[in-house]
Order: sequence, then C-alpha cells, then structure tokens
Amino acid sequence: MILPGNYVRDLLQQSPGTAATARGWVKTRRDGKNVHFIQLNDGSSPTDLQVVLDEGVVPPEVVARITTGACLSVEGELVASPGKGQAVELKTRKLVVHGAAHPEEYPLQKKKHNLETLRPLGHLRARTNTFGAVFRVRNVLGRAIHKFFQDRGFLYVHTPIISSSDAEGAGSMFQVTTLELDQMARWGKPPDFGQDFFGRRSYLTVSGQLEAEILALAFANVYTFGPTFRAENSNTPRHLAEFYMIEPEMAFCDLNDDQDVAEAFLKNLVEEVFGACRPDLEFLSKWYEPELFKSLESVLGGSFERISYTEAIALLQKAGRNWEFPTNWGADLQSEHERYLTEELFKKPVIVTNYPREIKAFYMRSNNDEKTVAAMDVLVPRIGEIIGGSQREERHDVLLHKIREHAAMGMKEEAYWWYLELRRFGGVEHAGFGLGFERMMMYLTGMKNIRDVIPFPRSPGNAEF
Ligand code: 4AD
Ligand code: MG
Repeated sequence: MILPGNYVRDLLQQSPGTAATARGWVKTRRDGKNVHFIQLNDGSSPTDLQVVLDEGVVPPEVVARITTGACLSVEGELVASPGKGQAVELKTRKLVVHGAAHPEEYPLQKKKHNLETLRPLGHLRARTNTFGAVFRVRNVLGRAIHKFFQDRGFLYVHTPIISSSDAEGAGSMFQVTTLELDQMARWGKPPDFGQDFFGRRSYLTVSGQLEAEILALAFANVYTFGPTFRAENSNTPRHLAEFYMIEPEMAFCDLNDDQDVAEAFLKNLVEEVFGACRPDLEFLSKWYEPELFKSLESVLGGSFERISYTEAIALLQKAGRNWEFPTNWGADLQSEHERYLTEELFKKPVIVTNYPREIKAFYMRSNNDEKTVAAMDVLVPRIGEIIGGSQREERHDVLLHKIREHAAMGMKEEAYWWYLELRRFGGVEHAGFGLGFERMMMYLTGMKNIRDVIPFPRSPGNAEF
C-alpha cells in the first residue's frame, strides 16, 4: 500500500537525490528520443508526477502496456526536473505494470471530456483531473464540518436512517419494506404493513432533525452528518434523491443565534477549504467557474444580509421583472427569486427569515403575528437555498394544535407522541438548521450540476453503481 510520504503529493515536495517509489494510474505517456515521459497520479494531487523512463530499463513489451489508465509501480530516484510545472521528476530504475488499460477501449483518453459524458462512467471518472479536484474538496469539507462543531463543544450524534415519521411533513419518502409485494399482488391481497418488518410502515429518513432535537435536550449542542433521502420527483441540477445533510441542533438558542451560527459556519467552511484546497479551486475556477474566487470571497468579506420574507417579497415586487412564479405575499420563494436576491440585488449571502406558516414545516415556532413562523433560509449566489432552518415550536399546546391542523394532510398525532412529550418534560427554546452538503460542494467547486459533486449520484431513474 501507499504509506504517508509516498503519495504523489508528498513526492513532489521532496528534494532531488531522494530514492522513491510511486504508485498510481497513468494520465498520459509521451515518447521522446530513447526516453518515455509518463504522467502518473494516485489521486492525492492536482499535479501529476512525471516519470522518466529511459529506453532499455524495461523490455519493449512492458513499455507497450504503459498507456493512459494503466496502473503502475515505479521505483527510482527523484531528480531535478528541467521541464516546466514541477521541481522534481522520478527517474525509473524498476517499473511494474499491475493492470493495463487497452488504448482502444479505455474510455478516458487524453482529450477533455464533458461532464455529461463522464456521468455514465461512474466507475472511472474519479481518475480525471476534474473529479480528482472535486472529491478532494469533498474530503476537506467533511473534515472542516466536524472540526467546526467539535471545536465548539457540539456532540456528533447519529440519528436513524430508517424511520417511521415524516420529519418534514412533506410526504416525499422512500418506503422500506420486506413484504413480498409482488406475491401479494399476484394473490390479490392488499399489503398488511402491520406484518412488515417493523410492524408498521417505515421509510428512509428525510431529515434527522426530530431525533436531533431529543439529543439537544440532553447535550445542549449536537449535530448530525449523514445521508438523507427524498423521493420528490424533481429532476433538477440542484436535487438528489440521496444527499448528505449536516443538522446542528441547539438548546437555549433562538432564531437570531441560529442565524449567527449558520453565518459563522459557512464562513469557516469557505476559509478551511480555501486554506487546504487552493490548487484544486484554481483548477476548477479555470475550467468551470471564472467567478469562483470572487464569489467565495464575498462570503468572507462582510456580514450576510438579513431580511424578512415580507421584505423579500416587497423587493421582488419592486424589481420590475417578469417573474415566472408569483411573488404575492404567501407564495414560496422559487429559485429565480432566491438567485435574484443573493446574486443580483445584494451580491452576497442573504438570510431570509419569518416565512408564512402555510409554506413551512409543522415544527417551526409560530411568531406572535400568527401569520409567520421563525424560519430561516440562507441563500447564496449561484445556488439559491443552501441552508434551511428554524427555531422550533417548544410550546406543547401550540405544537399539538399545529399537528392536529395537519391531520387532514395525513399527519398522525400518535406517531409524534414522543416529540410532543419532549415539550412536557424539561422543554426549552431551541433551534437548528440543515446544510445540504452537496449544495455546499456546488458552491465551493463551481460545478453546475449536483450530480457532479457526489461520487455516485441518485436521482430519478438513476441508481447505477
Ligand atoms: O430545507 P430542508 O428541507 O430542511 C430540513 O430538512 C430541516 N429538517 C433542517 C433542519 O432544520 N434541521 O433541507 C435542508 C437543506 C436545504 O437547504 C438544501 O441545501 C438541502 O438540505 N437539500 C437538498 N440537497 C440536495 N437534494 C435535495 N433533494 C435536497 N433537499 C434539501
Ligand atoms: Mg428548505
């Protein structure tokens, strides 16, 4: 295996004269007079290691197998490189081809590929420069998220993936069952979910929030970081059926504190990724989003704009645009509205608060005006909504009333007994939010389609790999 010190990233930092072994996959091979130049990468670095192979070091039949995509080990000495772009190169003493990649059949030949044609190549696209950069950023982002919360004393908690409650009350869930549905259909029997594995209907979770609230009322500050699932049939560049969400939940916290945490969190994540992934961001900016640095710097620069939903609606009405979707008070903000506010009007992240209660989830705290709830969405340029959160309804009677109101839409009071009971035993004001991990990835990398920031995207009609 490759040990620390022997990644391509590390070898590129070493001084000439060092003995080294490199392992990885061939990006390209170029032949000079009596010499071959091989660009080798193991995924650790945006820069390849140049391997220099003199004629005669390995037999010609081995050289023939060194083609784009082949997997190699190379032993030799790092020497000063006369070429541009690297300080050292590896002069070969010994070379082994572990696995060849037939030059006529290997799909990732040198030319630049567009992202759509790479999507069906989920088993190979991680080896391209683009996905190398994207997935390295993804790794650093994951680490930065844990670091942010761990540094502030938050407890990392695991909430269930299989759940019987609809946390968002939106009804777009994947059902989980072990019943033999096709057999039942053949016998003409309706399924009895009481006989199902969990003795009731169950689903893949849409959010860990409700369970995170339980844990916040024991540990004060907690966060989840895990997969969530939505069966909404929205085939858009911003939606996945399976995505990762980070959900902090904080006791003794109101909507203002919630906004402060969200703002500090996003700023910190941008800063960390800037610090650790600059060469990758430069690559992504060059090929995919010329405004990337400008837009990320706008997060660090000043404070986020904070406006109420009511103010947002007034601004949209004043914009003098032909909106595709309505902008009357009570209508939900659509992507076109969100992007106008953050991209064009304020040109920086915007937090919109206090939405009409009708368009938000049942658990959000009712404001005194009886018309709005203590919700917040964080909008950023290029993406629109990146965070959704709220202060939670902590008053037992108000929450019960709200759940009963939703009964007509299929919400069952009995299913939320524990959520209600939490309000009867040691309740306190609390708030939290959810950051869409892949939305943040799009923001950081400049990728335009959410399917290109996760190794194996799940979307309607698409569960390959
Ligand atoms: O706004 P949402 O639905 O909020 C919640 O789920 C709350 N329970 C969060 C909380 O308060 N603890 O989702 C939160 C974020 C969105 O802002 C968006 O970034 C992302 O999750 N998101 C999606 N990302 C990719 N594909 C989808 N289908 C997404 N749906 C939401
Ligand atoms: Mg939302």
